[in-house]
Amino acid sequence: MIVILLISTLSCLLVWIYLRWTKVRSYWADRRVPHELPHPIWGSLTFLQKKNAGIWMKEMYSRFSSPYVGIWLFWRPALIVNCPEIGKRILVKDSDVFRDRFLGSGKNDPIGGLNIFTSNDPLWTSMRKRLTPVFTSSKLRSLHGLLSAKSKQLEQRIRSDVKAGDTINLRMVYSDFTTDVIGISSFGVDSNATSKGESHMRTVTKDFMTYNFWRGLAWSCIFFFPELVDVFGFTMFPKKATDYFKKVFHSIEEQRRTEGSDKRDLMDALLKIKLEAEDTNEGITEDAIIAQAAIFLQGGFDTSGSALTFTTYELAFHPEVQDKLYHEIVELKQRIGNKDFHFDDLVNLTYMTCVINETLRKYPPMGFLDRIAAKDYKIDENLTIPAGTPVYVNAIGMHVDPKYFPEPEKFNPDRFLPENEEDIQPNTYLPFGEGPRVCIGMRFANYTMRYALASIILNFELRPLPDAPKPKDVEIEKMGIFYMPSGVMSVEFVPRN
Ligand code: HEM
Repeated sequence: MIVILLISTLSCLLVWIYLRWTKVRSYWADRRVPHELPHPIWGSLTFLQKKNAGIWMKEMYSRFSSPYVGIWLFWRPALIVNCPEIGKRILVKDSDVFRDRFLGSGKNDPIGGLNIFTSNDPLWTSMRKRLTPVFTSSKLRSLHGLLSAKSKQLEQRIRSDVKAGDTINLRMVYSDFTTDVIGISSFGVDSNATSKGESHMRTVTKDFMTYNFWRGLAWSCIFFFPELVDVFGFTMFPKKATDYFKKVFHSIEEQRRTEGSDKRDLMDALLKIKLEAEDTNEGITEDAIIAQAAIFLQGGFDTSGSALTFTTYELAFHPEVQDKLYHEIVELKQRIGNKDFHFDDLVNLTYMTCVINETLRKYPPMGFLDRIAAKDYKIDENLTIPAGTPVYVNAIGMHVDPKYFPEPEKFNPDRFLPENEEDIQPNTYLPFGEGPRVCIGMRFANYTMRYALASIILNFELRPLPDAPKPKDVEIEKMGIFYMPSGVMSVEFVPRN
């Protein structure tokens, strides 16, 4: 009797699963949306841990010449948007419907869950409103002393590594530099990774950079199946990092309270927000404040470091571009004489802007922008997506579409010259995202990269190392969600004097 009961329950379950699966499987076909049939378990996510998510997005763009493509995150339907006009509506015009990201880092890890990258409303709006004024150009000017000193240390570090005959691991050296710049500014801790290649803060960021099977799985869940993050006990920040952030925050808070501070850095701004929030009921806890400093570090050091890595690498392979940039910097140096490069001078270097833009076109660290629909939304005459559908604006796909960027594999900063800018179609270039959730650290990153590049290009000629892979053959981290190199990338630094 029990056996019969078991068999009939199992049969019912199998029939239910089968019926459910047939419904899931035909979801996009029923709506006449282009798609590839899903895997019965992984849906469209069969690439995970085998192929970088940015590379997969590029493939999904070129395989379908359609404004959008239906995919499945396991069994959940989601939409990739390949079209600049629809992308603009999602990110900007109808951003009140797409205010939230789909990704999430669970409840086990407050520092991972309360920062403005992962959090949603109401916390996101109140935090973002308070943090936005901190990242204006006028506020960031106060970082001049720090950026100037650190870019000199970077030059000296490379000079001494060259003298010692060491091969320079670009991503590591640049991440030493960006960890210092963002770590000092966000946490107020003077770490010295740029000179030494190590510091307590750098141990933490090195940990972030380590990609293995479990880290890959954790990031995959954060981005594509946030409900599983808590089930598996994944966290965005390793526990060691969270403990360290808290310790550092408390000690700097205490120091600035007793000694006062005129630093006007991100840490000062966060402490001010903490004080103000104590009088309100907005749920801005101490964890929520530490979470913002943590995301500035996490969101900023590797993105900026990898952008500097790819820029350096491409410049070594393109001496004509490097020469043009060098002459622009030399001209500036002649104008300012013995003075250090200043913020305003660097911002006005037109060709440097083009070089940075072109690097971020070819290598956007975050190749796609995720959102979730808060209510049913009409994509076009043929398709309305229901509330709760995740959407991905395929930035990296548009960046390499020859329709928008002719010869997309070519490193050609000239396409961003002011006289050519009209040729770039609106909303096809999105390295920092767009709309209310645009990267808050965009200017910070831009200034950091400018100080570093000015110092490097003025002092060294960059050449490819013998047998180094061409830029198009550089391997991208297979297990990664972010578009970062997997192996060591190096060039020859030849001192100019
Ligand atoms: C080259 C460097 C960088 C690139 C390419 C980059 C790119 C991005 C992108 C694409 C987004 C998502 C935008 C969207 O969904 O529309 C983002 C968000 C964010 N970035 Fe950056 N980023 C960089 C550097 C930085 C730096 C230096 C910081 C902090 C100091 C930072 C902090 C953040 C934060 C906090 C968010 C979440 C914003 C929100 O949801 O409100 N990023 N970044």
